[in-house]
Amino acid sequence: LLTVAGLTVEEVAAILAATDRLERMAAAERAKILAGRRIALLFYESSTRTRTSFELAAKSLGAMTTLVSDKSSSIEKGESLKDTGLTLRALGAECIVLRHANSGAPYLLAKTTGLPVLNAGDGMHEHPSQALLDLRTMLARLPGMSGRLVNAKTLEGVTVVITGDILHSRVARSNAMLLPRLGARVVLCGPPGLLPDDALGLGLDSKGGIEIERDFDKALKQAGSGGKAVVMMLRIQRERLAGLELDLGEYISRYQLDEERLMARAPEALVMHPGPMIRGLEIAGEVADGPNSAIEDQVRHGLGVRMALLVRALGAGGFESVTV
Ligand code: CP
Repeated sequence: LLTVAGLTVEEVAAILAATDRLERMAAAERAKILAGRRIALLFYESSTRTRTSFELAAKSLGAMTTLVSDKSSSIEKGESLKDTGLTLRALGAECIVLRHANSGAPYLLAKTTGLPVLNAGDGMHEHPSQALLDLRTMLARLPGMSGRLVNAKTLEGVTVVITGDILHSRVARSNAMLLPRLGARVVLCGPPGLLPDDALGLGLDSKGGIEIERDFDKALKQAGSGGKAVVMMLRIQRERLAGLELDLGEYISRYQLDEERLMARAPEALVMHPGPMIRGLEIAGEVADGPNSAIEDQVRHGLGVRMALLVRALGAGGFESVTV
């Protein structure tokens, strides 16, 4: 799984169906599916949610995991991604979950090792498992969605407003690629420095149901009421800003999702955030903890979706048997 662009809608449906089956399965049954298989978690960037949920997902399927991080391995001594991957393969890793600061690193690792690679976030490029768990959260939380078949019309009538640091966000990019293919309208919102003038500047297809609205209040209003609105807030990625100066006071006044703004513009909207969130900056604490928030649900769904992705990556008939 390198990109959501490589997944057909049918494959997305199969992944979510497998997620349902795996979550309902008795723990003892689930632990046989990847019993004895070896999965390496290779993390060149910090992570709490993605790393922990891939690790717990692998263990609950019976697999053995090993974590290699850039801070405590021979990567610190200058070993290349290729040689690190070949070393993990020589040690018996059958699959590698990779987070890397460079866009495209998972492609290189897959090519050089020949192993299945799960992209756990590559630079400013993609975060496919996050988009899949976000989709599952929407299906679980939006009214009338539960149990819906996943197809090109599943999210018809749903508007997803993604707000904040779009430019540096692999989460925004994967969601903006995936959600319109299921019928959603995606509105990107942020100041010029964090959101280029047109969607093509993000490497996205401008014909694909993606719009830009710089005024957050207008974007929220467009998402509207009626329970079909999602507002996804993003952290400003200071580590990738590269000299861009932001007036945080102005940013907060124009783009922070607080209770007053939410209640005035889109009181029924589902509030999402991939995390980590900076309370008091892009999102107010009362909204993050409020009844509209699906932020903890997103984390929970990450476990099930990543179980399905690991079974899919390691094949051995397991994926087919959990999707039928
Ligand atoms: N959403 C996400 O990728 O969070 P982590 O960086 O904690 O894994």
